[in-house]
Amino acid sequence: MKQNLLKESEKSINKAVKYLNQEKLVALKTETVYGIACDPGNISALKKLYQIKQRPIYNPLIIHVNSIELAKKIVHTTDDAECLMKKFWPGPLTLILPRKINNFVHDIALSGLESVAIRFPKSNIMREIINKFQKPIAAPSANESGYISATDANHVIDSFGNKIDLVIDSGRTNFGLESTILDMTKKPYQLKRHGVIDSKIITEKTGIKIVIANCKNKKFQKPNSPGQLLKHYAPKTPLFTNITEPMQGDAFLNFGKRKYNHKATLNLSTTANLDEAAYNLFDFLRKLDKLKKKRIVVAPIPNTGIGITINERLDRASI
Ligand code: TXA
Ligand code: MG
Repeated sequence: MKQNLLKESEKSINKAVKYLNQEKLVALKTETVYGIACDPGNISALKKLYQIKQRPIYNPLIIHVNSIELAKKIVHTTDDAECLMKKFWPGPLTLILPRKINNFVHDIALSGLESVAIRFPKSNIMREIINKFQKPIAAPSANESGYISATDANHVIDSFGNKIDLVIDSGRTNFGLESTILDMTKKPYQLKRHGVIDSKIITEKTGIKIVIANCKNKKFQKPNSPGQLLKHYAPKTPLFTNITEPMQGDAFLNFGKRKYNHKATLNLSTTANLDEAAYNLFDFLRKLDKLKKKRIVVAPIPNTGIGITINERLDRASI
């Protein structure tokens, strides 16, 4: 086992808190994907984080909290925002809200924006570490900028080796896709990133209306959602979607009952279960990428529920 990879335990959690206080980086499981945690108030930790991820400095970080009270120290809320916090937190919903002056979050973590993307994760380890650290945590997904997100501690090691001071292995993440991001800084509220929580469900449960930002549209290629513009979630192997007949030499990502006689094949869900497909997506893309074939070709995925998020990730990966 790598020296910087430790199983989740009281000891490794205490070590993580100690490291966060020492300007170090710690990879942790959340319910969505693994994140690289650091102190959002510490310039040197933030610089290290942007550097190892090769993340452009104009791409701000999500700030993770362990209570609505802590969130309210960092952002200005409204009745609608608090309604969503009460209904969906802790859980995979990130809210973009106006920034409040505070001592926790440095400008660098926010790329100088006047808004903050804030999230109260369900992940036990993340919440416990924020409890012990007594401050919020900045955590982008634990992948090199633009590459496939990490849903397993070994993915983090594959991407960064010992460049991260500590990686805590808490097993595979629950959902396998990132949180939903909703911009509430102005009306109409805009969905900035499809994620685990379907925006239709948000509206159904709360009556709060949401418009879907067309992220590929040039209009949105502005600094208020920088991570959503470019090619992303992409394997090194060129990826093609909606393919029903893989060619010789392809790595094939199948979905559903149809069987193929194609050697390099993984099936996201043989029972055509979209939640299972979401859970497997990034893991299987990483596995197929390792085969170093000419192409990764992906079977059609139904565009409903979490299938919309899966297709959005695949579209970006195939740009
Ligand atoms: O599920 C998740 O959200 C994971 C786990 C680790 O919490 N985190 C995650 O972080 O996906 P990251 O950095 O990979 O994606 C965050 C996205 C980026 O596209 C970034 O541009 C956007 O959130 N973002 C952050 N702050 C923002 C802000 N103030 N306004 C608009 N977009 C923002
Ligand atoms: Mg990411």
